[in-house]
Amino acid sequence: MNNNEGLSTSRRRLLATVGTAGAASVAGCGFQAPRADDSEDGPAESPTSRVDGLERYPRVRVGSVDELSDGDVETFSYPLDGTENFLTRIGGEAWGGVGSDGRIVAFSGICTHMGCPVQGQVKPAQEMAGPCSCHYTSFDLSKGGLVVSGAATTDLPQVRLDVEDGDIYATGIDGLVYGYRNNLRDGTPIDDATEE
Ligand code: FES
Repeated sequence: MNNNEGLSTSRRRLLATVGTAGAASVAGCGFQAPRADDSEDGPAESPTSRVDGLERYPRVRVGSVDELSDGDVETFSYPLDGTENFLTRIGGEAWGGVGSDGRIVAFSGICTHMGCPVQGQVKPAQEMAGPCSCHYTSFDLSKGGLVVSGAATTDLPQVRLDVEDGDIYATGIDGLVYGYRNNLRDGTPIDDATEE
């Protein structure tokens, strides 16, 4: 064995020893990352902690089948306070529409292009929202909020609806609402009807 081989073998043994000791040290140190709710009384109630605990869309009553006539446009917040949507009964059957004729739909009231409000430009008889007053995008309310024309490249998020005993409930949203990284974060959630 020459000197180089001896050194090489020694280095390998040293590295193996250090590696084993290091692993044992980490495994045995009992380190745990601190958790926000480790205090004895738990986290204080706040909008942020409530949203952090929200793992699914709430079920929220947003209207009544009998009280929504042709041409009506009602606005409501969902799933967070201040996240504006509109509920309407359009002229024909719609994708995701509810009610006996499938004409009741709800969508985000915020344009997907740059966030201008569109609920003021809803035309139920034409089954259309728009043109948006900022850059003229129009969305087809019978086809899941499909972009028909204008600057937006993303369809208008559709609110999933359910009808129970004549009441209309929002149960979720298909698509990301403009300005949010997650539809269920960064705000105060609306109370879930099933928890009342
Ligand atoms: S914000 Fe609506 S088209 Fe630009």
